[in-house]
Amino acid sequence: MPRLETKLLTPDQMADAVRLLQAGEVVAFPTETVYGLGANALDTDAIAKIFAAKGRPSDNPLIVHVYQRSQIHQIAGPWDSDAGKLMNAFWPGPLTLVLPKQEVVPVSVSGGLATVAVRIPSHPVALRLLEESALFLAAPSANVSGRPSPTRAEHVWNDLHGRIAAVLDGGLCGFGLESSVVDCTEKPFRLLRPGGVTLEALQACVSGVIDGSSAAASDEAPRSPGMKYQHYAPTAAVTLVIHDPQLRLLRARVETAQSLGQRVGAMVVSENVALVPAGAMVLDMGPRDDLSRIAQSLFHLLREADAYSLDAVFVEGLPETALGRAIMNRLRKAAGGRILNGHETQGADER
Ligand code: TXA
Ligand code: MG
Repeated sequence: MPRLETKLLTPDQMADAVRLLQAGEVVAFPTETVYGLGANALDTDAIAKIFAAKGRPSDNPLIVHVYQRSQIHQIAGPWDSDAGKLMNAFWPGPLTLVLPKQEVVPVSVSGGLATVAVRIPSHPVALRLLEESALFLAAPSANVSGRPSPTRAEHVWNDLHGRIAAVLDGGLCGFGLESSVVDCTEKPFRLLRPGGVTLEALQACVSGVIDGSSAAASDEAPRSPGMKYQHYAPTAAVTLVIHDPQLRLLRARVETAQSLGQRVGAMVVSENVALVPAGAMVLDMGPRDDLSRIAQSLFHLLREADAYSLDAVFVEGLPETALGRAIMNRLRKAAGGRILNGHETQGADER
Protein backbone atom coordinates (compact mmCIF):
# COMPACT_ATOMS: atom_id res chain seq x y z
CA MET A 1 0.00 0.00 0.00
CA PRO A 2 1.20 3.57 -0.67
CA ARG A 3 2.92 5.27 2.25
CA LEU A 4 0.85 8.11 3.71
CA GLU A 5 1.99 11.21 5.54
CA THR A 6 0.09 10.53 8.78
CA LYS A 7 -1.07 13.73 10.53
CA LEU A 8 -1.10 13.92 14.31
CA LEU A 9 -4.12 16.09 15.18
CA THR A 10 -5.30 17.63 18.45
CA PRO A 11 -9.02 17.90 19.27
CA ASP A 12 -9.01 21.57 18.22
CA GLN A 13 -8.05 20.37 14.73
CA MET A 14 -11.27 18.32 14.58
CA ALA A 15 -12.24 20.01 11.29
CA ASP A 16 -9.22 18.40 9.58
CA ALA A 17 -10.23 14.96 10.86
CA VAL A 18 -13.80 15.54 9.65
CA ARG A 19 -12.57 16.58 6.19
CA LEU A 20 -10.37 13.50 5.86
CA LEU A 21 -13.19 11.14 6.91
CA GLN A 22 -15.63 12.78 4.52
CA ALA A 23 -13.05 12.34 1.75
CA GLY A 24 -12.99 8.58 2.41
CA GLU A 25 -9.77 8.46 4.44
CA VAL A 26 -9.01 6.51 7.63
CA VAL A 27 -8.56 8.46 10.89
CA ALA A 28 -7.78 7.01 14.33
CA PHE A 29 -9.74 8.60 17.18
CA PRO A 30 -10.07 8.15 20.95
CA THR A 31 -13.00 6.40 22.58
CA GLU A 32 -13.59 5.68 26.27
CA THR A 33 -12.45 2.06 25.68
CA VAL A 34 -9.52 2.08 23.23
CA TYR A 35 -8.56 4.09 20.13
CA GLY A 36 -10.64 3.24 17.06
CA LEU A 37 -9.58 3.23 13.41
CA GLY A 38 -12.47 5.08 11.81
CA ALA A 39 -13.81 5.38 8.28
CA ASN A 40 -17.19 6.05 6.66
CA ALA A 41 -19.12 2.84 7.34
CA LEU A 42 -21.21 3.20 4.17
CA ASP A 43 -18.23 3.68 1.81
CA THR A 44 -16.75 0.33 0.70
CA ASP A 45 -13.50 1.91 -0.53
CA ALA A 46 -12.95 3.58 2.83
CA ILE A 47 -13.69 0.30 4.63
CA ALA A 48 -11.15 -1.52 2.45
CA LYS A 49 -8.52 0.95 3.68
CA ILE A 50 -9.21 -0.05 7.32
CA PHE A 51 -8.63 -3.73 6.58
CA ALA A 52 -5.47 -2.94 4.59
CA ALA A 53 -4.00 -0.63 7.26
CA LYS A 54 -4.56 -3.16 10.07
CA GLY A 55 -3.78 -6.30 8.08
CA ARG A 56 -7.13 -7.58 9.36
CA PRO A 57 -8.73 -10.79 8.04
CA SER A 58 -11.73 -9.84 5.88
CA ASP A 59 -14.15 -12.18 7.71
CA ASN A 60 -13.72 -10.26 10.98
CA PRO A 61 -16.52 -7.66 11.05
CA LEU A 62 -16.31 -4.06 12.27
CA ILE A 63 -18.28 -2.14 14.89
CA VAL A 64 -20.28 0.82 13.56
CA HIS A 65 -20.17 3.89 15.82
CA VAL A 66 -23.22 6.11 15.88
CA TYR A 67 -23.87 9.59 17.29
CA GLN A 68 -27.40 9.06 18.57
CA ARG A 69 -30.01 6.40 19.05
CA SER A 70 -32.51 7.86 16.56
CA GLN A 71 -30.06 7.06 13.72
CA ILE A 72 -29.70 3.36 14.47
CA HIS A 73 -32.73 2.21 12.50
CA GLN A 74 -30.98 3.46 9.35
CA ILE A 75 -28.36 0.73 9.65
CA ALA A 76 -29.86 -1.94 11.92
CA GLY A 77 -33.07 -3.53 13.13
CA PRO A 78 -35.60 -4.60 14.06
CA TRP A 79 -34.58 -5.38 17.64
CA ASP A 80 -36.13 -6.98 20.70
CA SER A 81 -37.39 -4.69 23.48
CA ASP A 82 -34.68 -6.09 25.77
CA ALA A 83 -32.07 -4.70 23.35
CA GLY A 84 -33.81 -1.34 23.78
CA LYS A 85 -33.40 -1.72 27.55
CA LEU A 86 -29.66 -2.28 27.14
CA MET A 87 -29.40 0.80 24.91
CA ASN A 88 -31.22 2.89 27.53
CA ALA A 89 -29.10 1.60 30.38
CA PHE A 90 -25.60 1.65 28.85
CA TRP A 91 -25.45 4.09 25.92
CA PRO A 92 -23.48 6.16 25.37
CA GLY A 93 -20.84 3.78 26.71
CA PRO A 94 -18.69 0.67 26.34
CA LEU A 95 -21.38 -1.71 25.05
CA THR A 96 -21.72 -3.02 21.49
CA LEU A 97 -24.96 -4.66 20.35
CA VAL A 98 -25.13 -7.12 17.45
CA LEU A 99 -28.40 -6.48 15.58
CA PRO A 100 -29.93 -7.48 12.23
CA LYS A 101 -28.20 -5.50 9.47
CA GLN A 102 -29.92 -3.14 7.06
CA GLU A 103 -29.14 -3.39 3.35
CA VAL A 104 -27.12 -0.10 3.22
CA VAL A 105 -24.36 -1.51 5.40
CA PRO A 106 -21.70 -3.04 3.13
CA VAL A 107 -21.00 -6.76 3.58
CA SER A 108 -17.33 -5.86 4.10
CA VAL A 109 -18.36 -4.14 7.35
CA SER A 110 -20.30 -7.17 8.56
CA GLY A 111 -17.71 -9.73 7.43
CA GLY A 112 -20.40 -11.35 5.28
CA LEU A 113 -22.82 -11.76 8.22
CA ALA A 114 -26.47 -10.69 8.16
CA THR A 115 -25.88 -8.72 11.35
CA VAL A 116 -24.12 -5.50 12.28
CA ALA A 117 -22.43 -4.51 15.53
CA VAL A 118 -23.38 -1.02 16.75
CA ARG A 119 -22.35 1.24 19.59
CA ILE A 120 -22.68 4.84 20.79
CA PRO A 121 -19.38 5.76 22.47
CA SER A 122 -19.27 8.16 25.41
CA HIS A 123 -15.89 9.83 24.77
CA PRO A 124 -16.55 13.53 24.05
CA VAL A 125 -14.01 13.64 21.19
CA ALA A 126 -15.56 10.57 19.54
CA LEU A 127 -19.04 12.04 19.90
CA ARG A 128 -17.97 15.38 18.40
CA LEU A 129 -16.33 13.61 15.49
CA LEU A 130 -19.50 11.61 14.82
CA GLU A 131 -21.68 14.69 15.10
CA GLU A 132 -19.54 17.02 13.01
CA SER A 133 -18.80 14.49 10.27
CA ALA A 134 -22.45 13.35 10.18
CA LEU A 135 -21.14 9.88 9.31
CA PHE A 136 -21.55 6.39 10.68
CA LEU A 137 -17.98 5.43 11.56
CA ALA A 138 -16.89 1.82 11.28
CA ALA A 139 -13.98 1.44 13.67
CA PRO A 140 -12.03 -1.55 14.89
CA SER A 141 -9.36 -1.03 17.53
CA ALA A 142 -6.55 1.04 15.99
CA ASN A 143 -3.75 -1.52 16.31
CA VAL A 144 -2.04 -3.73 13.75
CA SER A 145 -4.04 -6.98 13.78
CA GLY A 146 -2.92 -9.28 16.60
CA ARG A 147 -1.17 -6.54 18.65
CA PRO A 148 -2.46 -5.16 21.97
CA SER A 149 -5.21 -2.56 21.46
CA PRO A 150 -4.08 1.08 21.71
CA THR A 151 -4.97 3.14 24.77
CA ARG A 152 -2.77 6.15 23.87
CA ALA A 153 -2.23 8.06 20.62
CA GLU A 154 1.43 7.01 20.66
CA HIS A 155 0.41 3.33 20.55
CA VAL A 156 -1.59 4.05 17.38
CA TRP A 157 1.29 6.04 15.93
CA ASN A 158 3.79 3.25 16.61
CA ASP A 159 1.58 0.66 14.87
CA LEU A 160 0.09 2.62 11.98
CA HIS A 161 1.96 5.79 11.01
CA GLY A 162 2.51 5.82 7.27
CA ARG A 163 -0.58 3.62 6.79
CA ILE A 164 -3.44 5.97 7.76
CA ALA A 165 -4.33 9.61 7.10
CA ALA A 166 -4.38 10.89 10.69
CA VAL A 167 -4.45 10.19 14.40
CA LEU A 168 -6.67 12.41 16.55
CA ASP A 169 -4.96 12.57 19.95
CA GLY A 170 -7.41 12.58 22.85
CA GLY A 171 -4.98 11.45 25.55
CA LEU A 172 -5.41 8.30 27.62
CA CYS A 173 -8.49 6.12 27.13
CA GLY A 174 -10.33 6.05 30.45
CA PHE A 175 -11.43 2.43 30.49
CA GLY A 176 -8.59 0.78 28.57
CA LEU A 177 -10.26 -2.46 27.39
CA GLU A 178 -12.71 -2.80 24.50
CA SER A 179 -16.48 -2.68 24.75
CA SER A 180 -18.59 -5.67 25.74
CA VAL A 181 -20.17 -7.26 22.66
CA VAL A 182 -23.68 -8.72 23.09
CA ASP A 183 -25.50 -10.67 20.39
CA CYS A 184 -29.13 -9.49 20.53
CA THR A 185 -30.32 -11.34 17.42
CA GLU A 186 -31.43 -14.44 19.36
CA LYS A 187 -32.78 -15.18 22.82
CA PRO A 188 -31.10 -15.70 25.16
CA PHE A 189 -28.80 -12.76 24.44
CA ARG A 190 -25.20 -13.83 24.47
CA LEU A 191 -22.13 -11.95 25.70
CA LEU A 192 -19.60 -12.58 22.91
CA ARG A 193 -16.77 -10.47 24.33
CA PRO A 194 -16.58 -9.29 27.96
CA GLY A 195 -15.58 -5.64 28.25
CA GLY A 196 -16.56 -2.31 29.73
CA VAL A 197 -20.01 -3.42 30.89
CA THR A 198 -19.82 -6.49 33.12
CA LEU A 199 -21.92 -9.64 32.67
CA GLU A 200 -23.39 -8.97 36.12
CA ALA A 201 -24.54 -5.49 35.06
CA LEU A 202 -26.06 -6.84 31.82
CA GLN A 203 -27.91 -9.57 33.72
CA ALA A 204 -29.23 -7.04 36.24
CA CYS A 205 -30.69 -5.05 33.33
CA VAL A 206 -32.25 -7.87 31.25
CA SER A 207 -32.77 -11.41 32.47
CA GLY A 208 -31.11 -14.37 30.82
CA VAL A 209 -27.97 -12.91 29.22
CA ILE A 210 -25.55 -15.83 28.93
CA ASP A 211 -21.77 -15.85 28.80
CA GLY A 212 -20.74 -16.91 25.32
CA SER A 213 -17.14 -15.81 25.81
CA SER A 214 -15.83 -18.34 28.34
CA ALA A 215 -13.32 -21.07 27.52
CA ALA A 216 -16.13 -23.66 27.42
CA ALA A 217 -18.29 -21.56 25.09
CA SER A 218 -15.44 -20.98 22.66
CA ASP A 219 -15.31 -24.73 21.91
CA GLU A 220 -18.39 -24.13 19.77
CA ALA A 221 -18.07 -22.46 16.40
CA PRO A 222 -17.30 -18.84 17.27
CA ARG A 223 -20.29 -16.51 16.80
CA SER A 224 -18.09 -13.48 16.91
CA PRO A 225 -15.52 -14.07 14.19
CA GLY A 226 -12.89 -12.04 16.05
CA MET A 227 -12.82 -14.60 18.87
CA LYS A 228 -10.92 -17.17 16.86
CA TYR A 229 -7.88 -15.01 16.11
CA GLN A 230 -4.72 -14.62 18.20
CA HIS A 231 -4.93 -11.25 19.90
CA TYR A 232 -3.36 -8.68 22.16
CA ALA A 233 0.08 -10.26 21.90
CA PRO A 234 3.35 -8.38 22.19
CA THR A 235 6.46 -9.88 20.57
CA ALA A 236 7.54 -11.26 23.96
CA ALA A 237 6.12 -14.69 24.79
CA VAL A 238 3.34 -14.14 27.35
CA THR A 239 2.59 -16.89 29.89
CA LEU A 240 -0.42 -16.57 32.18
CA VAL A 241 -0.02 -18.20 35.60
CA ILE A 242 -3.32 -18.91 37.38
CA HIS A 243 -4.12 -20.19 40.89
CA ASP A 244 -0.67 -19.26 42.23
CA PRO A 245 -1.36 -16.96 45.22
CA GLN A 246 2.20 -16.96 46.61
CA LEU A 247 3.64 -16.65 43.07
CA ARG A 248 5.65 -19.82 43.71
CA LEU A 249 5.16 -21.16 40.20
CA LEU A 250 5.54 -17.75 38.56
CA ARG A 251 8.82 -17.10 40.41
CA ALA A 252 10.18 -20.50 39.45
CA ARG A 253 9.38 -19.91 35.78
CA VAL A 254 10.92 -16.44 35.83
CA GLU A 255 14.12 -17.87 37.33
CA THR A 256 14.26 -20.70 34.80
CA ALA A 257 13.89 -18.27 31.91
CA GLN A 258 16.58 -16.01 33.42
CA SER A 259 18.95 -18.97 33.74
CA LEU A 260 18.50 -19.51 29.99
CA GLY A 261 19.72 -15.95 29.43
CA GLN A 262 16.32 -14.49 28.56
CA ARG A 263 15.16 -10.94 29.33
CA VAL A 264 12.16 -11.59 31.54
CA GLY A 265 9.26 -9.51 32.84
CA ALA A 266 6.76 -10.25 35.60
CA MET A 267 3.34 -8.59 35.42
CA VAL A 268 1.89 -8.70 38.92
CA VAL A 269 -0.41 -6.75 41.24
CA SER A 270 1.25 -4.04 43.37
CA GLU A 271 1.02 -6.19 46.52
CA ASN A 272 3.24 -8.81 44.87
CA VAL A 273 5.94 -6.59 43.38
CA ALA A 274 8.34 -7.49 46.21
CA LEU A 275 8.04 -11.18 45.28
CA VAL A 276 9.45 -10.72 41.78
CA PRO A 277 12.95 -12.23 41.48
CA ALA A 278 15.84 -9.77 41.20
CA GLY A 279 16.79 -8.87 37.65
CA ALA A 280 13.31 -9.38 36.22
CA MET A 281 11.49 -6.33 34.93
CA VAL A 282 8.45 -5.50 37.09
CA LEU A 283 5.26 -4.62 35.21
CA ASP A 284 3.03 -3.36 38.06
CA MET A 285 -0.66 -3.80 37.19
CA GLY A 286 -1.87 -1.74 40.17
CA PRO A 287 -3.53 -2.68 43.47
CA ARG A 288 -5.33 -6.05 43.49
CA ASP A 289 -8.69 -4.51 44.37
CA ASP A 290 -8.52 -1.74 41.78
CA LEU A 291 -9.68 -3.67 38.72
CA SER A 292 -10.44 -0.44 36.82
CA ARG A 293 -6.83 0.61 37.16
CA ILE A 294 -5.62 -2.86 36.11
CA ALA A 295 -7.90 -2.75 33.05
CA GLN A 296 -6.63 0.70 32.14
CA SER A 297 -2.95 -0.24 32.33
CA LEU A 298 -3.14 -3.73 30.80
CA PHE A 299 -2.52 -3.03 27.11
CA HIS A 300 0.09 -0.38 27.88
CA LEU A 301 2.04 -2.86 30.02
CA LEU A 302 1.91 -5.51 27.28
CA ARG A 303 3.37 -2.93 24.91
CA GLU A 304 6.03 -1.99 27.49
CA ALA A 305 7.27 -5.58 27.24
CA ASP A 306 8.29 -4.80 23.67
CA ALA A 307 9.65 -1.36 24.50
CA TYR A 308 12.07 -3.14 26.85
CA SER A 309 12.76 -5.95 24.33
CA LEU A 310 11.68 -8.63 26.76
CA ASP A 311 11.79 -12.25 25.55
CA ALA A 312 9.24 -13.56 28.03
CA VAL A 313 6.57 -12.11 30.32
CA PHE A 314 4.89 -14.07 33.11
CA VAL A 315 1.54 -12.66 34.19
CA GLU A 316 -0.30 -13.26 37.46
CA GLY A 317 -3.90 -14.42 36.94
CA LEU A 318 -6.84 -12.61 38.59
CA PRO A 319 -10.29 -13.79 39.75
CA GLU A 320 -12.69 -14.06 36.80
CA THR A 321 -15.66 -12.08 38.08
CA ALA A 322 -16.93 -8.60 37.23
CA LEU A 323 -14.18 -6.65 35.39
CA GLY A 324 -11.79 -9.54 36.07
CA ARG A 325 -13.62 -11.45 33.35
CA ALA A 326 -12.66 -8.94 30.66
CA ILE A 327 -9.11 -8.61 31.98
CA MET A 328 -8.57 -12.40 32.03
CA ASN A 329 -10.16 -12.78 28.59
CA ARG A 330 -7.51 -10.44 27.13
CA LEU A 331 -4.68 -12.09 29.10
CA ARG A 332 -5.71 -15.59 27.96
CA LYS A 333 -5.65 -14.42 24.37
CA ALA A 334 -2.31 -12.64 24.78
CA ALA A 335 -0.92 -15.90 26.17
CA GLY A 336 -2.18 -18.01 23.27
CA GLY A 337 -2.10 -21.49 24.82
CA ARG A 338 0.60 -20.72 27.42
CA ILE A 339 -1.37 -21.01 30.67
CA LEU A 340 0.10 -22.59 33.80
CA ASN A 341 -2.02 -23.66 36.77
CA GLY A 342 -0.47 -23.44 40.24
CA HIS A 343 -2.99 -25.96 41.61
CA GLU A 344 -1.92 -28.63 39.16
CA THR A 345 1.81 -28.20 39.67
CA GLN A 346 1.71 -27.62 43.42
CA GLY A 347 2.75 -31.18 44.32
CA ALA A 348 5.78 -30.99 42.06
CA ASP A 349 6.60 -27.53 43.41
CA GLU A 350 6.45 -28.63 47.01
CA ARG A 351 9.14 -31.31 46.68
O1 TXA B 1 -14.34 -0.79 22.39
C1 TXA B 1 -14.45 -1.21 21.25
O2 TXA B 1 -15.32 -2.04 20.93
C2 TXA B 1 -13.46 -0.69 20.20
C3 TXA B 1 -13.73 0.81 20.04
C4 TXA B 1 -12.89 1.43 18.96
O3 TXA B 1 -15.09 1.01 19.81
N1 TXA B 1 -13.59 -1.39 18.97
C5 TXA B 1 -13.18 -2.68 18.83
O4 TXA B 1 -13.34 -3.21 17.57
O5 TXA B 1 -12.71 -3.34 19.75
P1 TXA B 1 -12.66 -4.56 17.10
O6 TXA B 1 -12.92 -4.62 15.66
O7 TXA B 1 -11.25 -4.58 17.51
O8 TXA B 1 -13.49 -5.68 17.79
C6 TXA B 1 -14.83 -5.90 17.41
C7 TXA B 1 -15.29 -7.25 17.87
C8 TXA B 1 -14.60 -8.37 17.11
O9 TXA B 1 -14.36 -9.45 18.00
C9 TXA B 1 -15.63 -8.73 16.05
O10 TXA B 1 -15.51 -10.07 15.61
C10 TXA B 1 -16.93 -8.49 16.81
O11 TXA B 1 -16.69 -7.35 17.59
N2 TXA B 1 -18.04 -8.21 15.87
C11 TXA B 1 -18.17 -7.16 15.04
N3 TXA B 1 -19.29 -7.27 14.31
C12 TXA B 1 -19.89 -8.41 14.67
C13 TXA B 1 -21.08 -9.09 14.26
N4 TXA B 1 -21.89 -8.61 13.32
N5 TXA B 1 -21.38 -10.25 14.89
C14 TXA B 1 -20.59 -10.75 15.86
N6 TXA B 1 -19.45 -10.16 16.27
C15 TXA B 1 -19.10 -9.01 15.68
MG1 MG C 1 -9.45 -5.30 18.12
